[in-house]
Amino acid sequence: MAAMDATSGYDRMKELKEFDGSKMGVKGLSDSGITSIPRFFVHPPETLSDFKNSSSTCTNIPIIDLSGIINSKDNDHRLKIVEQVKEAAKTWGFFQVINHGVPISVIDETIHAIKAFHDQPHEVKAKYYKRENELGGVMYTSNNDLYRAKSAAWHDSLQAWMGPEPLKVADLPEICRNEVVAWDKSATEVAETVMELLCEGLGLEAGKFKELTFLDARVLVGHCYPYCPQPDLTVGITSHTDPGVITVLLQNHVPGLQVKHGDEWVNVKPVPGGLIINAGDFLQIISNGEYKSIQHRVLANSSKEARISIVIFFNLAKWKGDGYHGPLPELLSSEKPAIYRNFSRQEFVENFYSKGIDTKSLIEKIKLQN
Ligand code: OGA
Ligand code: NI
Repeated sequence: MAAMDATSGYDRMKELKEFDGSKMGVKGLSDSGITSIPRFFVHPPETLSDFKNSSSTCTNIPIIDLSGIINSKDNDHRLKIVEQVKEAAKTWGFFQVINHGVPISVIDETIHAIKAFHDQPHEVKAKYYKRENELGGVMYTSNNDLYRAKSAAWHDSLQAWMGPEPLKVADLPEICRNEVVAWDKSATEVAETVMELLCEGLGLEAGKFKELTFLDARVLVGHCYPYCPQPDLTVGITSHTDPGVITVLLQNHVPGLQVKHGDEWVNVKPVPGGLIINAGDFLQIISNGEYKSIQHRVLANSSKEARISIVIFFNLAKWKGDGYHGPLPELLSSEKPAIYRNFSRQEFVENFYSKGIDTKSLIEKIKLQN
């Protein structure tokens, strides 16, 4: 890409660096009262026109009630829930769980604490602003993929790797420290329950994913989508799939998340106390295509109130002895041959960190032509 647009004299890299260097994030831009957004946030017409295709119907992603699963031995009921989870993961790749056992007070405190972090003056947050901790520790920044993506998006994020190496808790900003630690614990419990149900849906032992260390490499990201003065020109988060096993997402009441279902984009309506679960690329691969990693995006926020979401991505902690992963051998047979080849940790990392979040290229890259 040319560093300088010869016709207009627009130096995109210079503008990106100035924005990044100011450490003010989009929250800072929004708070400054700007009425038009910097040009590097403006998305191309193809992306923007696709935003007009959002579903206006009342469909929502499946809602699964986990009451009766947690601490219960009612096997018939469990089988019904396993079926629901399996069906949702196969057809939607996304579902919302309710009655998951996490008290509403913990949920409210988490949202409140992440909002409080982002609400601080940007001079206070600036000391956490960095990009070099993308693969470990704590990092606060605007657009993790700022320099990799084609266009920037209207969100800032506080990111903390909660495992597999224990996080240095003192590295977390004090304003949300206890809440982040508590949320990690609660969300991991929910993830464990969901992973058990997902395993059973594949005919595997309930504890298989835990044994494969899928609960260990967790990254927690507290996003803030502040008011955007030109929401029709940019996005909150570019359409993408999540790379890991599963994601647990908690959001406040400000809408914006959309999930692709068939040819339609479906609005995910916030359900009070509900937690959104979605399958990542890795789950699609190891399940040999049974569970789907589905594209999702967030609209730029047109409401004066910030949208807050807290996601925990469950990634791979350990790679097999030879450093490869692929469809689980237990799921393969002559009727169901592998549709993906094995891939290495290096391929996974290089693929993810070499580009913006907008392409599902790992899955495409390792698909076998059966
Ligand atoms: C993500 C993501 C959606 C949201 O961080 O991968 O899809 O609602 N976030 O913040
Ligand atoms: Ni995502």
